[in-house]
Amino acid sequence: RRLTTAAAAGLVLTALAACSPSLEPGTNEGDVLHLALNQTESHPSYIALTAWGDHLEEQTDGRWSIDVYANETLGAQAEAMQLVSDGSVEMAIVSGPQLENLNRDFIALNLPTTFDDIDHQMRVVHDPAIVGDLYTSLEETNNVTVLGGFTQGSRSVYTTYGPVETPADLAGQKLRVQESELNVAMAQALGASATPMAYGELYTGLQSGVVDAAENNEVSYASQRHFEVAPHWSSTNHLVGLDYMIINTDMLASMTEEDRAVFDEGWELARAEHVELWLQATQDAVATAEAGGATFHDVDDEVFFEALEPLADRFLTTDEQWAIYDAARAASAESAD
Ligand code: GCU
Repeated sequence: RRLTTAAAAGLVLTALAACSPSLEPGTNEGDVLHLALNQTESHPSYIALTAWGDHLEEQTDGRWSIDVYANETLGAQAEAMQLVSDGSVEMAIVSGPQLENLNRDFIALNLPTTFDDIDHQMRVVHDPAIVGDLYTSLEETNNVTVLGGFTQGSRSVYTTYGPVETPADLAGQKLRVQESELNVAMAQALGASATPMAYGELYTGLQSGVVDAAENNEVSYASQRHFEVAPHWSSTNHLVGLDYMIINTDMLASMTEEDRAVFDEGWELARAEHVELWLQATQDAVATAEAGGATFHDVDDEVFFEALEPLADRFLTTDEQWAIYDAARAASAESAD
């Protein structure tokens, strides 16, 4: 039953699509859960997810397992989300902006002003009192459940052409953004020309001049080897980004109570491992990029924060969205002082 080569993924998708409707809630005693990821095998998300799979397999005597497909093998995030929704892939990691495209309430957790830091973010996104309804909001419409998330750390700008000390250095430059309205507006608020693009296309995009700049965390910058084609990093720290763990709702509901408990326990362990790995991975990424010729410019991030601050008022348009945003802000260590 175990799939060993990524090349066979297409066949598997067809086969799985054919057998998923027979799942009765609470009766499924084992399956292979295919998980779509757009990162490399060295990325903390891959490592933590693989450990989750090992834990699940061990604790259920091999009845359940998680096969993590790295490097967009099962598709870029927008496709992966669709595959999870129709049940042909069971699980995926997708970035916050992707979920915003299904339910705008997710914008409350995607704004540059939502989270102060990783600690604050992890507290909020695993607090059911804040996010409970949001995480189940896609079940009826899309057959997708959100289990929680991994941090993307703090995102900064990097370019092919030089440092970005203030937004003026982005004026008229083509800045690759994740595929969402908010992300397009972010680039525009910084004066750049926004170019939405899938993650896996970005290396070539930077190399060929389709875009002049991008924004991400150090780990992605190094693991995707973007520093080779965009060697100027500026610490704009304009957004603490979030990756969501999503699963097909019918598959999740099909698990026996006992197996679900093991599954949840493994996910909690994976999250803890991810946070632990993140700091070291960030330091290693800086070293790798520097050794590969990148320069890290220390810039005043306050001016970027100020340029993006008005987006909350513009994008939060309902009481529900403000309620999530306000609850997230209230959980900040700053507001506790
Ligand atoms: C980060 C994040 C990914 C996302 C990517 C992007 O690497 O972890 O989920 O797809 O940024 O900018 O597209």
